[in-house]
Amino acid sequence: MTKNNRANFGSKLGVILASAGSAVGLGNIWRFPFETGNHGGAAFILIYLGCVLFFGIPIMVAEFSIGRHSRANTAGAYRILAPGTQWRWVGRMGVLAGFLILGYYSVVAGWTLEYIVQAATNAFAGQSANDFIASFNGFVSNPWRPALWMIVFMLMTHFIIVKGVERGIEKSAKIMMPMLFILLIVLAVCSISLPGAGAGIEFLLKPDFSKVNGNVLLGAMGQAFFSLSLGMGCLCTYASYFRNDTNLTKTALNVGWIDTMVAILAGFIIFPAAFSVGIQPDAGPSLLFITLPNVFQQAFGNLPWLAVILSIMFYVLLALAALTSTISLHEVVTAYLHEEFNLTRGRAAKLVTAGCTVLGVLCSLSLGVGKELTIFGLTLFDLFDFVTAKIMLPLGGFFIAIFTGWYLDKRIVWEEVSNNGTLPKAIYRTWLFLLKYIAPIGIGFIFINELGFLK
Ligand code: TRP
Repeated sequence: MTKNNRANFGSKLGVILASAGSAVGLGNIWRFPFETGNHGGAAFILIYLGCVLFFGIPIMVAEFSIGRHSRANTAGAYRILAPGTQWRWVGRMGVLAGFLILGYYSVVAGWTLEYIVQAATNAFAGQSANDFIASFNGFVSNPWRPALWMIVFMLMTHFIIVKGVERGIEKSAKIMMPMLFILLIVLAVCSISLPGAGAGIEFLLKPDFSKVNGNVLLGAMGQAFFSLSLGMGCLCTYASYFRNDTNLTKTALNVGWIDTMVAILAGFIIFPAAFSVGIQPDAGPSLLFITLPNVFQQAFGNLPWLAVILSIMFYVLLALAALTSTISLHEVVTAYLHEEFNLTRGRAAKLVTAGCTVLGVLCSLSLGVGKELTIFGLTLFDLFDFVTAKIMLPLGGFFIAIFTGWYLDKRIVWEEVSNNGTLPKAIYRTWLFLLKYIAPIGIGFIFINELGFLK
């Protein structure tokens, strides 16, 4: 496999948008609010921001370096950079994490399609907050509908994956990202101006550190890795398609910034509205889907046509944001099978799609008919979320930090990170310090603390 026959991202804007497209998704708009709600609000957000800054950005630069230097899928990258060592297991664990995440992520992505249809058929009109809760619960526990939507979403992902990297990923990201951003701002303004929204704003801005415990720390760290698409070789695989003159540090800062802005905006949409209509902030995975229809109802009650247009736009853009993320997850596993097992890209993609569809159907059923079937007290859906976001991704990030900070030849690291010597030395040294010490020690501390050894 030479550098020449692999695809490349075309323009610089394309690089940022594709990586940001991977990062921005349901993690920001669906998962961030419900994790924030489960973990008490503002204090969680501050810890989350710390995790993004001190673990996330440095590890993102490390993943970019590994990917671009090796020009290979994530498992192949370790085979090339550390031949004959056990480091390849970091890559393999990442591939497995990607597979599991795609399994349950596509279930939620499927829900967005259902909500596009509901928005388009004006199903939200005249309903109360309790109606929205009942209709959501009825929908997810139905054995067929959510599973079928999940399959539709999986096929959409499959289609773009086989069409190739540049045309598929770059184009969809270029159009949808700016539109999504503008719509989120509009909705945040609407939500903040609802009666009684102040309590929600307070929830977002007034930290109560007395509620911070090991679970809050683990939740914030897991959310940072999940939202930034880190710790499993996703951005590593994308970086293998970067051009040699792509500035890795700038790209990482841009992606981190955009991703964080979208999550915070989502918070300012969800919580003011939730408090305004009396939905509990710790409603869990249903939070986005039971809160948002209220915003459309309450804010545009006298302009029903506007409510319909905006709600369709929102769910379409949400589905597209999810699509650029499922593409990136699918790509990790597909590139791995394609390059490591000599399968054609098409066949590799088919295997991934088939496998994830099975996982996805099981996850979907685990919220309805399979509710009683729990492992460690968690449904399959919750188990996949927990194991990937809170264990596998931070663990992967830990090893990526050690690999790049301690193991990899510093000439290679400097060459990649500095873009052939154009980065100021002070920034490089700060980055290396965060990567070698702060990130691994911080991640290790949160893990050990969660296990209860420090009590
Ligand atoms: N970051 C995406 C989101 O916020 C989800 C995602 C895409 C992801 N690729 C990933 C999460 C890789 C973890 C690892 O929706």
